[in-house]
Amino acid sequence: MESSLKLYYYTGTGNTLRVVKHLAELAAEQKMESEWVPVDRLKKADLEKPSDISLTGICYPTHGFNAPWHIIKFCFRLPRKRKAGVFLLNNRGGSKIGKYRLPGISGIALLLPALILFLRGFKIRGLCSADPASNWLSIHPPWKPKQASYIMERALKQSSTFFNKLVNKRCVVRTGIILTWPIDMAISWISVLYFLKGRFLLAKMYMAGHKCTSCGLCEKQCPVGAIKMVNKKPYWTFDCESCMRCMNICPEKCIQASHSIFGVLLAAVVASGITVLLSDITGFGDFLESNREQFGAVLSYCINFVFQLAIFFPVLFFAYGFIHYLMLIKPFRYLFEYTSLTKYWGHYLAPEVERKDLQPRKQQNRRDV
Ligand SMILES: Cc1cc2nc3c(=O)[nH]c(=O)nc-3n(C[C@H](O)[C@H](O)[C@H](O)COP(=O)(O)O)c2cc1C
Ligand code: SF4
Ligand code: SF4
Repeated sequence: MESSLKLYYYTGTGNTLRVVKHLAELAAEQKMESEWVPVDRLKKADLEKPSDISLTGICYPTHGFNAPWHIIKFCFRLPRKRKAGVFLLNNRGGSKIGKYRLPGISGIALLLPALILFLRGFKIRGLCSADPASNWLSIHPPWKPKQASYIMERALKQSSTFFNKLVNKRCVVRTGIILTWPIDMAISWISVLYFLKGRFLLAKMYMAGHKCTSCGLCEKQCPVGAIKMVNKKPYWTFDCESCMRCMNICPEKCIQASHSIFGVLLAAVVASGITVLLSDITGFGDFLESNREQFGAVLSYCINFVFQLAIFFPVLFFAYGFIHYLMLIKPFRYLFEYTSLTKYWGHYLAPEVERKDLQPRKQQNRRDV
C-alpha cells in the first residue's frame, strides 16, 4: 500500500474540490499523508514525477460527456513514470427526483484520460465516477443548497467506497460505471461534437451585465486564464471551459450565460454551413454529391465534417466579434443580459465551498498526519 496520496484536480464550482477534500480526509484515516494540487494554469515545470510510494489521483468535472480539455492536456503532461499507479475520478452532474438521487452521464470522460495515461505507461489503479449536484446552469436552474447537500452526500459515499477499496486492492473500477458503459459508448459521438464545436459555442455565450464594476475578479479567478479585460469589461476567449466559475463568483452576480447570444451564434454557424455547402460559389456541395459513390458514405461524411469545421470557426469568430461590439451599446447589452435565463435562476457553489476556496493556485495544500 502507498504511504501518501497526491491529488491533482480541476474544479469549476467546487464539487470536485469538495470530493478531493473528502478523499484527503479518508487518506488521513488510513495514516496516509496527502496533498491536493489544482491544475489551474499549472506549468509542466511545476509537475513532479509520480513516486512509487505515492498514489496519484486526477479528479475533475465532466464537460460535454468528456473530460475538460485542460485535464486531457494534463494527462499528456504528467511526467512519465512507468507503472506508477494513477486513479481517475470524474464528477458528473447528479440530480434528484423526490428522494431518489440520479447519476449524470460520463460519456468518454473516464475512458479517454485513462487511455492516454495507459499508453504513456502509467498503471491505471482505479476508475470512479461520483455524482454531486449538476452545475450546468446554462441548461437548468441551480439546485438549492439543501438539495445540493443531499445530492453531495451520495457523491461522498461513492468516493469513500471507491477509495477504501483502492487502498486495500491493486485495481478498482466502481461497479456502477461498468453498468453505464453501454450508454457512455452510445453517446460518445456527442462527446466528439462537443469537444470539436460545442465547447467553443458555449464559451462565447458569457457576458458581463450592466452592474459590472470592472473589478477584474473573474479574470483573476478563471482557472484557465480564459478571461481578458477589454475596455475594462471581461472578454471570454476560446480557452474558456464553460466551468461556470466566473458566473458564480462575480460579486455583483452580473455574469450571465446569455441564451440570446447563444441563439444568434448558433443561427450564424448553422446558416453559413448550409449556405456555403449548397452554394454555387464553392461548388463543394455538388462536388461531394457527384463523388459520393466514389468516396463512400463514411469518407463523404468525414470530408463534409472537416469542411463544416473550417467554416465554423471563422463564422463564430466574426459573429462573436460583432456581438461583442454591439454590447458596447447600452440597449444591446441590456437586451442580451435580460434574455439570459441565468439572470433569473440564480447561482451555484458546491456545499461547504466558498468563493475564497476557489482562488487561483498560490500554494499547494497539504494535510499531514
Ligand atoms: C459545460 C458543462 C457541461 C457538463 N456536461 C456534463 C455531462 O456531460 N455529464 C454530466 O454528468 N455532467 C455534466 N456537467 C455537470 C458537471 O460535470 C458536474 O456538475 C460537476 O460535478 C461539476 O464539478 P465542479 O463544480 O468541480 O466543476 C456539465 C457541466 C457544465 C458546466
Ligand atoms: S467579477 Fe463581475 S464585476 Fe468584477 S469584472 Fe468580472 S463581471 Fe465585472
Ligand atoms: S471564463 Fe469562466 S466559465 Fe470559462 S473557464 Fe474561466 S471561469 Fe470557467
